[in-house]
Amino acid sequence: MDIVDPAINDYLLAHSEPADDLLRDLADETHRDLAPQSGMQITKDEGELLTMLVRLTGARQAVEVGTFTGYSSICIARGLPSDGRLLCCDVSEEYTSVARRYWERAGVGDKIELRIAPAVETLQSLPSEPHLDFAFIDADKAGYASYVAEVMPRLRPGGLMVLDNMLRAGRVLDPESDDDRAIDELNKALVADERLEVVLLPVRDGVSLARKR
Ligand SMILES: C[S@@+](CC[C@H](N)C(=O)[O-])C[C@H]1O[C@@H](n2cnc3c(N)ncnc32)[C@H](O)[C@@H]1O
Repeated sequence: MDIVDPAINDYLLAHSEPADDLLRDLADETHRDLAPQSGMQITKDEGELLTMLVRLTGARQAVEVGTFTGYSSICIARGLPSDGRLLCCDVSEEYTSVARRYWERAGVGDKIELRIAPAVETLQSLPSEPHLDFAFIDADKAGYASYVAEVMPRLRPGGLMVLDNMLRAGRVLDPESDDDRAIDELNKALVADERLEVVLLPVRDGVSLARKR
């Protein structure tokens, strides 16, 4: 399903910040060397949205669940102030070895800590009080609800969670798999959660913004 009309999609890409050479190189390398998995990478417009959201919220402490080859982490880190920090969670040394190279090239390596472990374990190891300003969730779909459950108590009031793939290519309308059902149920739970203000945007595969009141 084309959530946005292709002609409108071209127009909005042409009238948003262009990707720089580094992000273009990262996307090209990922498509060349990890072709079967490359669809997991966020797109240029999502990356620009992440950078802007981090800047707009004034976030200093951020966490990312699902780093892959590093595109979204670079976009988040670029939006952080010089003393800001991003904790990246992933299970793959292979994918994140690419991310590490690009973090250095982007000059954001000193803002980023990577932990290779199931993300729920990494999140549970963090201090339990509110200290996070920003969280981006983009890993295994079955795990999203547990990532939200672990991030919520650690998110400061006014803090923002951003969740990717919240439309499942339109299949939330008629779920076909356990992952589709998990995301549909999470969308319902998020909007019913009185601790949150939620906006689900038709950006790419659906990007949900959930702000803690
Ligand atoms: C959709 S990709 C992330 C794409 C990335 N945000 C980007 O911009 O390129 C999902 C990532 O989640 C990781 N992942 C899958 N299950 C995980 C888990 N239980 N804990 C942490 N990471 C996991 C995968 O290794 C993969 O790198």
